Amino acid sequence: MSRTILRGRVLTFLDEPQAIDDSASYRYIEDGAITIEHGRIVAVGDYVPEAGADVIDHRPHLILPGFIDMHLHYVQSQVIASYAGSLLEWLNTYTFVEEQKFSRQGHAGVVASAFYDELIRNGTTTAVAYCSSHPASVDAYFAEAAKRNMLMVGGKVMMDRNAPEALCDTPQSGYDDSKMLIERWHGRGRALYAISPRFAITSTPAQLEASRALVAEYPDCYVQTHLSENDAEITSSMELYPGSPDYTGIYEDYGLLGPKTLLGHCIHLNHRETKVLAETGAVAVFCPTSNLFLGSGLFDRERLAQHGVRIGVATDIGGGTSYSMLRTLDEGYKVLQLRGQRLNPFTSFYMATLGNARALSLEGTIGAIAPGNAADLVVLDAAATPAMALRMATASTLAEELFLLQTMGDDRAIAEVYVAGARSKSTLGGL
Ligand code: GUN
Ligand code: ZN
Repeated sequence: MSRTILRGRVLTFLDEPQAIDDSASYRYIEDGAITIEHGRIVAVGDYVPEAGADVIDHRPHLILPGFIDMHLHYVQSQVIASYAGSLLEWLNTYTFVEEQKFSRQGHAGVVASAFYDELIRNGTTTAVAYCSSHPASVDAYFAEAAKRNMLMVGGKVMMDRNAPEALCDTPQSGYDDSKMLIERWHGRGRALYAISPRFAITSTPAQLEASRALVAEYPDCYVQTHLSENDAEITSSMELYPGSPDYTGIYEDYGLLGPKTLLGHCIHLNHRETKVLAETGAVAVFCPTSNLFLGSGLFDRERLAQHGVRIGVATDIGGGTSYSMLRTLDEGYKVLQLRGQRLNPFTSFYMATLGNARALSLEGTIGAIAPGNAADLVVLDAAATPAMALRMATASTLAEELFLLQTMGDDRAIAEVYVAGARSKSTLGGL
């Protein structure tokens, strides 16, 4: 039987930390052992020597659940760092041009492979991605995930107006292609499908109606779209859907809001919209590096949380500027500072692990180091660079170490990654 024991300092969350000293919200084992069989965690506890066991010793590093990225666009891997004033200019000038290349399966395969290498190098073991409008881009996305045995969520973006002809589908073809891709990929291995109308501006009412039909046929699938990111986007959306009370109301009117709905950005929501998100269980996804880069605005985490809105956190590559969830948490911290809100480091790491697993309704599968969960893990080195080592020399608590990792860390702080129990960072290139 294949049985591996990882030894190290183990940290996993049990619930959302309510304060920096909320030690009941996590489990920390100073000399811990994670026992893995057939890609799953079978035991977690104090390390006890075992004759003949295959032990990988990661001390003094921290072992956490692999990071989960709730929103990004793999087809924008070559759009990162494009110089634009704001969202709509950025979409029209760079993004809609770049995504046209994904009609070619060869291009999609090359970018998908590089994209997954980046996720792994950054400790991300599960992500939720938009593909392009071309079915070939979805095939490349899930085929590459299957090779690496990764739990990935994604889907073909549906868009039938206000974009170049070469990117546009129609209500019927968007429906047909999505249905075909759901049948092909959803639930195959670790793949999960997200029905993906891009946003109100690029979908006609007929396409949102087709999206509603897909949701009714496949209630198990996720729905992902963008909501309330930028002022000009909101104005344009309301002009296109004058019968809806507000931006959230558009998706509500087409039956697209529910506990499996993932809404990127959610920055400028009014009181009614916040209440609707809370009532429907839809998830607001915080994308700090993107929101800063595109000048979109400051996410109001406290207000949404107080109203009971479920919240996720994500990179939003390529509006976002880093694949690293550590960089993302750092920028998230700074955004909330500007709002006068404090994000303690335990809550940040909860958000990137169990919090995002809960937002995906995948608690018990990923996001925690617990028996029965997949052995998707990240090993973190808080002294990965000379500057980090210098600062780490004065850190004496776990909170300080986590905060240092978040503030100074990036891909260099990711010492190792396990996907379904397989060593995946140090073996990159060996696929
Ligand atoms: N809104 C619609 N499409 C996109 C996209 O690709 N990126 C971002 N950040 N916002 C969007
Ligand atoms: Zn996005």
